Amino acid sequence: MLTLIAIVSTAGGAGRSTVTAHLAAQLAHAGRPVAVLELDAQNAIGALLGLRKTCETGVLSSGVAPDGWRAVLRDTPAGVPLLPSGRTSVANLSAMAQWLQGDVGGLRRQLTAVGLPDGARVLIDTQRLPDAIALAAVAAADLVLGIVPVTTAGYVTQPDLMTACDGRVQIVPNVAAANSSLNNDLLNLIQGRGGDAVVPVRIHRDIAVGMAAANGVTLAKAGDGSQAALDFIHLEAWLQRAMDVGEGSEGTARGGTRR
Ligand SMILES: Nc1ncnc2c1ncn2[C@@H]1O[C@H](COP(=O)(O)OP(=O)(O)OP(=O)(O)O)[C@@H](O)[C@H]1O
Ligand SMILES: [Mg+2]
Repeated sequence: MLTLIAIVSTAGGAGRSTVTAHLAAQLAHAGRPVAVLELDAQNAIGALLGLRKTCETGVLSSGVAPDGWRAVLRDTPAGVPLLPSGRTSVANLSAMAQWLQGDVGGLRRQLTAVGLPDGARVLIDTQRLPDAIALAAVAAADLVLGIVPVTTAGYVTQPDLMTACDGRVQIVPNVAAANSSLNNDLLNLIQGRGGDAVVPVRIHRDIAVGMAAANGVTLAKAGDGSQAALDFIHLEAWLQRAMDVGEGSEGTARGGTRR
């Protein structure tokens, strides 16, 4: 059985794609079966996973039916199989939203048909909430990771994130800057408001993230010992614990992580 993990945010540029790519790469590095599904029209996550060329065809492209996703699955230099969005259009996006809304189990069914290894974690990169496709991913997911940048925008939009995810979100603070007292105050506010929905790991603002993006090398592969690389090691370890607890109760991760 696959574990679906939706990566969402209500703040733009929060770091959804960054967290998706580096967390997936860290899972692969730890020997865990993993894949990325890109439900974002930007069609850009391939670059973070090391692909040099834009993926022309993907799950959001015209002519690719949901039961044809296996044909667009790609290997990446990061060692993470990718179902890219591919080039898309408004019409394709709204068709996908309609399909997902009308067939709640459809996303899991089509991912299962792709033939990923049993037990694979499928990290789903999404467009910024509110977005119909992202909400469908949240509804289908076993675990929802909400990326909240430790910024004023992140703090201001945090309640919308928690509401949109119906209390099921686990919040990952991103771009934390420990050397800034303003940033630390914001982090305290985000943690205070989120309570135990906030994961006990934060991703620091780190130039290594931009360098990794520019070089198309994930932090797990770079092995540069950066703060962000360490953060993703901790996030992966937290995720494994959360999944183990979830899978031990009621047989599904969803049971253990629903709030
Ligand atoms: N922890 C971090 N440290 C430094 N830079 C970061 C960090 N996280 C994200 N960034 C940078 O912030 C920018 C936005 O990140 P990203 O593209 O992952 O966000 P997103 O939520 O996917 O945005 P979009 O709304 O465009 O899809 C990128 O340039 C990325 O390199
Ligand atoms: Mg993105």
